[in-house]
Amino acid sequence: MGHAAREAVGAIDQGTTSTRFIVFDRSGAILGQAQREHEQIFPKAGWVEHDAREIWRNTRTVMREGLVRAGLEPSDLSAIGITNQRETALLWDATTGEPLHNALVWQDTRTDRHVAALARDGGRDRFRALTGLPLASYFSASKLAWLLDHVEGAREKAEDGRALFGTIDSWLVWNLTGGEEGGLHVTDVTNASRTQLMSLATLDWDEGMLGVFRIPRAVLPKIVSSSAVLAETCDPFEGVPVAGILGDQQAALFGQTCFAAGEGKNTYGTGAFALMNTGPEPVASKAGLVTTVAYRIGDEAPAYALEGSIAITGALVQWLRDNLGLIRESSEIEALARSVEDNGGVYVVPAFSGLYAPHWRDDARGLIIGLTRYANKGHIARACLEATAYQTREVLEAMERDSGITLSELRCDGGMTVNDLLMQFQADILDRETLRPKVSETTALGAAYAAGLATGFWGGLSDLTDNWAVDRRWHPHLDAERRAALFSGWSRAVERSFGWVE
Ligand code: G3P
Repeated sequence: MGHAAREAVGAIDQGTTSTRFIVFDRSGAILGQAQREHEQIFPKAGWVEHDAREIWRNTRTVMREGLVRAGLEPSDLSAIGITNQRETALLWDATTGEPLHNALVWQDTRTDRHVAALARDGGRDRFRALTGLPLASYFSASKLAWLLDHVEGAREKAEDGRALFGTIDSWLVWNLTGGEEGGLHVTDVTNASRTQLMSLATLDWDEGMLGVFRIPRAVLPKIVSSSAVLAETCDPFEGVPVAGILGDQQAALFGQTCFAAGEGKNTYGTGAFALMNTGPEPVASKAGLVTTVAYRIGDEAPAYALEGSIAITGALVQWLRDNLGLIRESSEIEALARSVEDNGGVYVVPAFSGLYAPHWRDDARGLIIGLTRYANKGHIARACLEATAYQTREVLEAMERDSGITLSELRCDGGMTVNDLLMQFQADILDRETLRPKVSETTALGAAYAAGLATGFWGGLSDLTDNWAVDRRWHPHLDAERRAALFSGWSRAVERSFGWVE
């Protein structure tokens, strides 16, 4: 049977805390899925690592399980799409396929001194025009530089092509398509745009940036489109085309079918990431956002986006659970937050990895402020949820300043959108409607869409927009004075978090 006529498309969603495989039909409905969490490795304060072998093992397991739950065979899949946590940097041996070190996760701040030194000569924004990004430990380039400088023998291997660099999309494609002999060494244009090594204009690695971070070109993958047939899988399934790759936040934008300039979404996961499609030309940010590639379909012109990246949202709930033990399950936070009427004057600024957009302060660290003898764990839980909403307001206001477009409502997705209190507070603090689509797994859906467009499973973008429908809306009803007072408290708290790391 031709690939276009097959029954379903599979998407691998390799996120910060877990890996999923979700099988979608032509209407965008989920036929089956499986999920596995992987270990978060914290060797020191500010360091965050993943074991890439564990990620690959989990990927194979969830692919097999998800397909069985969908009641399908590999030959029923028209295509496989990949979406991934972005910026996370890995080096592996081109011959053995063994990682040379754990992957350095996007939240890892070990390179803050390196980027601060680069910023002393020309400022934090010196590479913005070329790459769309400010200097920050968040992006992959300084992480790759750290690996090349600290792993024994890595630099020599990288220089003669015996070591390969990739973000997690590259690692998965290489394993899916070639096993230990090595498959394709590629990355898509959205993931490449997060390294700070790619030029937004040429969509190729930039020699000048490679010089700044001392990166040998031989270690880098080839940059490909987000939607294009790349190669067939050989593990764990034989012969399914890998036909789509999108960084997870761009995938959510695609899954929310934000294909027109001015359309945007906010995804609430480990962090939260608001993206607005700005059309075929990159828009430079003056308000602290990043300019990034939204997607590129085949040989068409790319679409660009403005992004407000927030490092810690859902991860703050996990921290309350795992580090403080205030709740046993993440879902318990809502009831605890509802046990009090308001935040009682308490604010939590989760600057665990510094603060990203719009502040870009690697020197900030987390704080809890406004404590009195009256404050209890309910107030802290509430302040943690509110932190997500305040940070979202900061990046949306920046987005409106940069784009000149006012969003009349906010399309939301991601795990935290099941939290009714958060979604209501988000509408209240923004003073506009928030809404959630019927398929809330928009990240995986976006990767499936990119892959299925390339094999003809979906005929065009209008097929995808036809699939989109609203599940739920929240209307704002907080009075203006209270809204202003709450947000002013937040802004004062944020300023106190700056400059903690010397
Ligand atoms: O930039 C980091 C982002 O891609 C991580 O996404 O969904 O794993 O929080 P997520």
